[in-house]
Amino acid sequence: MKIDFWIFIIFLLQLQTCSGLEVTVPSNPETGMAGSSVVVPCIYSLDFNKMEPKLLHVRWIFRDKVLLMFSKKELTSYGRATLDKEAAMNGNVSLLLYGLKVEDEGTYTCSVEYIGELHLKKVQLRVQASPSVEVTKSSTKSDDKMNLDCLVKGFYPKEVNVTWYRNGEIVNNGVITSEPRKEGNGTYDVNSTLVIISSKIKKDELAECRVEHVSMGTPIKEHFVLTQIGLKRNSVTLVSISTVTVFLVMALCRGLYWALCNRLKSKSNVVDEESVKPAVEPEAELQKCPRMGEIMVPRMVNGTKAFLQCTISGYCPENLNVTWLWMKPGTQQLLSVSPSDNKTATVEIKREKDKTYTCTACLSINVSVSGENSAQYVCQVEHPSLERPLQKRTGKLQVIGRSCVK
Ligand SMILES: *[C@@H]1O[C@H](CO)[C@@H](O)[C@H](O)[C@H]1NC(C)=O
Ligand SMILES: *[C@@H]1O[C@H](CO)[C@@H](O)[C@H](O)[C@H]1NC(C)=O
Ligand SMILES: *[C@@H]1O[C@H](CO)[C@@H](O)[C@H](O)[C@H]1NC(C)=O
Ligand SMILES: *[C@@H]1O[C@H](CO)[C@@H](O)[C@H](O)[C@H]1NC(C)=O
Repeated sequence: MKIDFWIFIIFLLQLQTCSGLEVTVPSNPETGMAGSSVVVPCIYSLDFNKMEPKLLHVRWIFRDKVLLMFSKKELTSYGRATLDKEAAMNGNVSLLLYGLKVEDEGTYTCSVEYIGELHLKKVQLRVQASPSVEVTKSSTKSDDKMNLDCLVKGFYPKEVNVTWYRNGEIVNNGVITSEPRKEGNGTYDVNSTLVIISSKIKKDELAECRVEHVSMGTPIKEHFVLTQIGLKRNSVTLVSISTVTVFLVMALCRGLYWALCNRLKSKSNVVDEESVKPAVEPEAELQKCPRMGEIMVPRMVNGTKAFLQCTISGYCPENLNVTWLWMKPGTQQLLSVSPSDNKTATVEIKREKDKTYTCTACLSINVSVSGENSAQYVCQVEHPSLERPLQKRTGKLQVIGRSCVK
């Protein structure tokens, strides 16, 4: 009886030393962004040559609940969690969590069991969410006072720095910043208010709400030009500009920025109180000029279809007009291409991540020597940001005859 017991213990010990199971997880917390996915690492090792796959049981546990099980090569998942089955057989049982939420933050336990030997390892997961920043104006009882509210929304964790600047200097007086308020999904909102005395605005003052948060490498900066208009009532125009857009706009379309300011100014002269333009959606406010690439011309073979392609990118808003023009062989006059010429124009518009648009305009031509040889095609673009249309030309085309196949 006693000897049996010891033999059993020795047998168990042998199994353990045989399997040589080791489980490793990172000691530092892992960080994921809300809305995206994250890998929570967990690696095991054992003698893979002798390994019996059916005896491997992996579980991931979060807040006393099993998130997923991997057992007998089968994966069972109970939420937004998965793992790579093939990698799992080779020692990588890292957890892939997708659609990350603030509530997913916490301690995850990686449990690996092989021939009755169980290893549990804990990994910390931190979730971050970057704020959105919007500055709006709210009026006050006094005619001469105006509040600028910097609304910082949807961030996590709670710590945030909201700072107001006027002409590059930090404003300490006349700023009220609320305590972070928790939203339903666990993120926080903050409202920081800058009180502005309209009559004390200097000429074209630059104001800025700057937001620093651990989820972002660089702060978000919302800039405004404060302008005092109308001596009587001191209403104020607020023009929202982001630094990048200012550079872009100034470099690309000279004069547009001032045109924009003047447009807002003239509006505010007409209507009084409503004219104070809240700085919502700076993108909607600004235009970006289109850039045109060269027209792509294929080999023009007599009797075949050819596609001319013109790519226009980086513009905003979306309303862009593309026209195809052409010069018939031996003429100098630009005519517009019409469908009756047996040519079809198509456009494809795509919205880019940076909120600009890209348009691919295509002209399909039935090529003939008499129609196209030494003809020229022009792709012309009109857009609200442009004073004059942009054009690209193909140069004189050369049509080659199709070789005769008998
Ligand atoms: C949280 O909810 C707010 C609206 O209440 C939304 O704007 C934000 O994107 C949400 N954030 C996350 C991380 O789900
Ligand atoms: C383990 O797998 C995850 C994906 O599931 C991958 O991101 C990670 O790099 C892998 N780790 C190792 C050490 O191979
Ligand atoms: C922000 O705070 C100011 C006063 O501090 C208040 O007037 C305004 O309504 C608040 N805005 C929001 C959206 O909570
Ligand atoms: C906020 O400012 C303080 C003091 O300058 C700094 O120590 C802290 O790291 C800042 N916090 C964030 C989230 O940037």
